[in-house]
Amino acid sequence: MYLLLMLVLLFVACKNDKEEYKDVAYFAMDANGELERPMNYRTWIYVGTPVTPNDMNDGKAAFPELHNVYIDPMSYEHWKKTGTWREGTILIKELVSVGSKAAVSGNGYFMGEFIGLEATVKSKKHFPNEPGNWAYFSFTNPEGGTLSATGKAFKTKQCNGCHNASAADDFVFTQYYPVLSSAKGVGDVTPENAAKRVASQTKKETKKVGKWEASVPTPEGLTLDIPLSKQQLFDYLASGKYKAFKNKEKEAHPSLGPHQKLGLPVRVFINDIIAESLEKGNDEHPLGSVIVKEMFNADNTLSGWAVMVKTHDKADNGNGWFWYEVTDPKDANKLAAIGNGVEGCVSCHAIGNDMVRTSYPLK
Ligand code: HEC
Ligand code: HEC
Repeated sequence: MYLLLMLVLLFVACKNDKEEYKDVAYFAMDANGELERPMNYRTWIYVGTPVTPNDMNDGKAAFPELHNVYIDPMSYEHWKKTGTWREGTILIKELVSVGSKAAVSGNGYFMGEFIGLEATVKSKKHFPNEPGNWAYFSFTNPEGGTLSATGKAFKTKQCNGCHNASAADDFVFTQYYPVLSSAKGVGDVTPENAAKRVASQTKKETKKVGKWEASVPTPEGLTLDIPLSKQQLFDYLASGKYKAFKNKEKEAHPSLGPHQKLGLPVRVFINDIIAESLEKGNDEHPLGSVIVKEMFNADNTLSGWAVMVKTHDKADNGNGWFWYEVTDPKDANKLAAIGNGVEGCVSCHAIGNDMVRTSYPLK
């Protein structure tokens, strides 16, 4: 059995040497002219993973997922030798939903679930009338079930047109795949082993963030005791729902911090999560901790609210906290700050125990 396998491998290797790979097809069309779904494409050459997330596209991204792109190994070899796509080139695009947007390493876009599979094939034999002889397919089940066994070619204008107009190399978006752009026509060189690496990854980002602006994004999709979006949070505060928190200061007392004017009355309300953590004397409060501070004018009328919500497991110099302050209880737009890692807030709060300044037990 083992010997047989060796013989087969030897045979394949010899075939490659003779460049007969030109005839090796990694795809097959069925009797109805549909593309059979390739199996084992994850053992092909992995090309890269572009992502065009909804929250960078006004919630309306055409393809909101991460796209894992693969190319069949023979076509990669041919691309390396010639810088062109051979007859029979197939690229697969695996669609993966955006899952978490925060990890221990920082905020970002992390892969969630597999949601679909698409392919493009270049073949003069099969698609003589398609521009560039490229045809485009999907095996995605719109109901979210298993992938279909075969895929029908899309109409030219649905896919081919955009690829024709904007892709860098004969309908393929190599400009977004360094694995391919670095290999283009390099011959027998192995681009993956080239010593040169761009150093820009290690350069610090230089974008200046204002003192009262968020410096990192606020994670979405968290289940918290309080909403974090601007209008919803304001409505929540105006409704007084936070007054249901069991733990609160008995009454307003003069503020120690010049949130507004030193000495004006404030009153703090905290949810159970942080109450328990303060009780234990923790140095790091858990994700989900919520603090609402009412602020008053000298005549004891409400002047606004300040809010802190822990949106991460770690404080991370204030980036793990969401900061919010509104200075008019009737106007959601009178914001002093909203977002994570607001430097102006952090600068004063950093001396607190995990950013919290109010002394516990609450008075
Ligand atoms: C508006 C332009 C546009 C349209 C329309 C479009 N694509 Fe693409 N496609 C892209 C871009 C840009 C990339 C590369 C970056 C990415 O994946 O987001 C890409 C990448 C791909 C890839 C990976 C290989 C490659 O060429 O880079 C496949 C496969 C693919 N698209 C299939 C399809 C299918 C199937 C359709 C039609 C249902 C389609 N595309 C329609 C822009 C488009
Ligand atoms: C000049 C220092 C200073 C700045 C700047 C500051 N705070 Fe405070 N903050 C305090 C102090 C001191 C307390 C303790 C309670 C009190 O006396 O007001 C406090 C309390 C709070 C509380 C109640 C929970 C706690 O930590 O005790 C919240 C919520 C709060 N601040 C939010 C904010 C937000 C949001 C910002 C930024 C818009 C901010 N703070 C900026 C000094 C500051």
